[in-house]
Amino acid sequence: MSRRSLSPSEARSPKRRKLEYPPLTPDDYKNGVMLAPMVRSGALPTRLFALKHGAKLVWGPEVVDKAILHAERVVDPVTGVISYVGKSKPIFTTHPLEKPFLVYQIGSADPEIAVQAAKTVMNDVSGIDLNCGCPKPFSTHAGMGAALLSNPDLLCSILTALRAALPPDISVSAKIRLLPTQEDTLKLVERIVNTGVNCLTVHCRTRNMRPRERALVERLKEIVDFVEGMGKGIAVIENGDCVSYEDSKRIRAMTGAHSAMIATAAEANPTCFSSTPLQDLGTTFVPSYLRLCRYLGNHWGSTKFCCSQFRGSHAQSTRAEQSALHTAVAKAKDYDEVSPIVSSRWTGEEEFAQIVRAIEGRDGRTPKRVEAESSSAVQPTSVAEPSPASVTPGSDPETENKTDDRPEPVEAVKTPQCSQTPDPALLRAPLGPANDARMPIPAFVTGQDVPTPTPLPARTPSVIETATSH
Ligand SMILES: Cc1cc2nc3c(=O)[nH]c(=O)nc-3n(C[C@H](O)[C@H](O)[C@H](O)COP(=O)(O)O)c2cc1C
Repeated sequence: MSRRSLSPSEARSPKRRKLEYPPLTPDDYKNGVMLAPMVRSGALPTRLFALKHGAKLVWGPEVVDKAILHAERVVDPVTGVISYVGKSKPIFTTHPLEKPFLVYQIGSADPEIAVQAAKTVMNDVSGIDLNCGCPKPFSTHAGMGAALLSNPDLLCSILTALRAALPPDISVSAKIRLLPTQEDTLKLVERIVNTGVNCLTVHCRTRNMRPRERALVERLKEIVDFVEGMGKGIAVIENGDCVSYEDSKRIRAMTGAHSAMIATAAEANPTCFSSTPLQDLGTTFVPSYLRLCRYLGNHWGSTKFCCSQFRGSHAQSTRAEQSALHTAVAKAKDYDEVSPIVSSRWTGEEEFAQIVRAIEGRDGRTPKRVEAESSSAVQPTSVAEPSPASVTPGSDPETENKTDDRPEPVEAVKTPQCSQTPDPALLRAPLGPANDARMPIPAFVTGQDVPTPTPLPARTPSVIETATSH
């Protein structure tokens, strides 16, 4: 298809695009329980399981704006997994199946770079969220995260720029923390709402509060009332200390929030979004998780780390059995070494098919087959050189040196080298023999018919596009 050149004014005005499902509106952020953004722990397989078990929307882990700009967009034609690969490692990994429900979170202190970062990934996500809550020095020293809370002009200029530059079907939202005083919080909230966001998530802790300190949810009611009084209909999501679907009802009743968002409890049990979350994760969940991870080519280090975080109540299994499982996963060096835990089928194909069916079975935002979009509908942005103010993307915003009351894993799992990036994934994933059996995902998910796959040589990226040309 020929692509006519755009005049500068056309290039600036975002176009309406043909979508396979309706764009995210404020209502889509309401009446649900959401998976919070979590570096390392919010990996693709965890997000897919959260969706399977009832999360209404899922937030990806924070990615610093500059980190994604030069990434290559790599698609695995067998599984459909999309990886944005930086100089040496994947920076962000997603799958078309989660796109209708996926909010991509940016760390930024610069409106222009934030827009470029958002445009780089916007064809693979439904919303862009600005992280205004990370209190860790690597983020705040560069003016990002919680530093934006004390620079509301910059914070709002980033949101305004995103809203102005992105196509209307890409939703924009922000995640903040409480300010020390309620008055200042309300002033900030008013400004944020006026930037045109669809949703505001309030982590009900202040910047200086530790994760183990009780969230100040009692302060949220006034904020929700205030936002409702502004009459724009935007969603307010409560975040902080919500532990389950049942708990979200209590929290929403207390605060009036439209939805609740869960981080720590979902890190421990990604099925916590269900009214009947799984117990005895060692037998009911971990084997499935391992299978899906292998199918998707999730980096073993990431898989192992996420497994090390799983906790849950056990009705059938004993604490000793749980510990034995943690130890077995912690000791394993690759997927083959956990075969005794997984025992039966070991391709992960069936787990993936179950997730596809669960997502297909949901009301509303199910991906449908669509005509390919006109390539002129969305023009790629040129990629800017990182400015001198560039910060190195870090890991674990908000939780670096985190202390909490959870028991430690039986055997400490070292963070793998690769997980210096938020979501180590596809390319260096060990593609064991079982992956040769991976089947193509259905066309309704990918939007394209995939020919019968030829088994891939291990470690070989199959389809590479530059991120900016897609
Ligand atoms: C492992 C982990 C990683 C996190 N990474 C992010 C992040 O990337 N972006 C963000 O805005 N918050 C991040 N957070 C903070 C959570 O999203 C959430 O605001 C906080 O944990 C409070 O929710 P909770 O009480 O349900 O844990 C992270 C939290 C955890 C536990």
